[in-house]
Amino acid sequence: MTNRTPVIAGNWKMNTDVESGIELATGIVGLSKDVSGVEKIICPPFTSIERVSVAVHGSTIHVGAQNVSANSDGAFTGEISTSMLKGFVSHVIVGHSERRAMNGETSEQVGAKAIAAAAAGLSPIVCTGEDLDVRNAGDAVQFVSEQLEQSLSGFSAWESLIVAYEPVWAIGTGEAATSDQAQEMAAVCRGVIRNLAPEAAYSVRVLYGGSVNSGNVVELLDQPDIDGALVGGASLKAEEFSKLRAAAGE
Ligand code: PGA
Repeated sequence: MTNRTPVIAGNWKMNTDVESGIELATGIVGLSKDVSGVEKIICPPFTSIERVSVAVHGSTIHVGAQNVSANSDGAFTGEISTSMLKGFVSHVIVGHSERRAMNGETSEQVGAKAIAAAAAGLSPIVCTGEDLDVRNAGDAVQFVSEQLEQSLSGFSAWESLIVAYEPVWAIGTGEAATSDQAQEMAAVCRGVIRNLAPEAAYSVRVLYGGSVNSGNVVELLDQPDIDGALVGGASLKAEEFSKLRAAAGE
C-alpha cells in the first residue's frame, strides 16, 4: 500500500453534446456521494466544459480538458489555451495516443503542453504507450521509456504531474493489459520519473488506461505502481463509471 490517493479519470473523447454531457455529469455526481478516498476527474469535450463544471460544482468531481495548446494566445486557429480553460478545469490530458497518432503530436509538443498546463496551475495528465507492433517486437519498455522521457524533458512542476500508461493496443479494444503487463510498464514510467527527478518518483501518480471497467479495475489498481485509471468507454455511463470508482476506493 502506498499513500498516493488513487485517481479515476474519465476521458469522454468526442462523445456527448452539451445536454447529454450535463446529464452524464449530473448522474455521476449523484452516484458518487458515497465514494471517498478516490480523486475523481471527468474530461468532457471543450464545448461542454463550462456547463459541466457548473453541473459538478460543490461536488468532489474535478473537471479536466482533453487537450490544450502550448501557446498562450495568438494566431493559432482552432486551438484552446490554458487561460481559456482556467477557472473551469483543474486537469488536462496531454499526449493521448489518439492525438499523437491522428494529429501527429510529437513528444516535444506534448512536453510543451505539459509545461504550459502546469505553469497555469493545471495538472497535466501525460499519456504514453506503445502500439502492438512495438510490443510484439519486444520493444515496449524501451519505447515507453523514451517517449515519456522526451515528453517530460524540461518539465519541473512534479507535484502537479499525473502520468498515464496506455498501451495503444488496449484502448477501445475490450482487451486490457494484464495486471502484470500494466505493472511492469507503470514501474518503467516511475523509473523514468526517478531518473529525471528522484524526489518525485514516489509521489507522482501513474495511471493505467486501456479497456478499464468495473470488472478489472481492482486487480489493476492492486499493483504497487498503478495509482488509478484513465477510462474511456466505461466513463460514458454514469453507473458503470461510479461502480468503477467505488471499486477503486476499496
Ligand atoms: P478505453 O479508452 O477505456 O475506451 O479503452 C481509454 C483511453 O483512451 O483513455
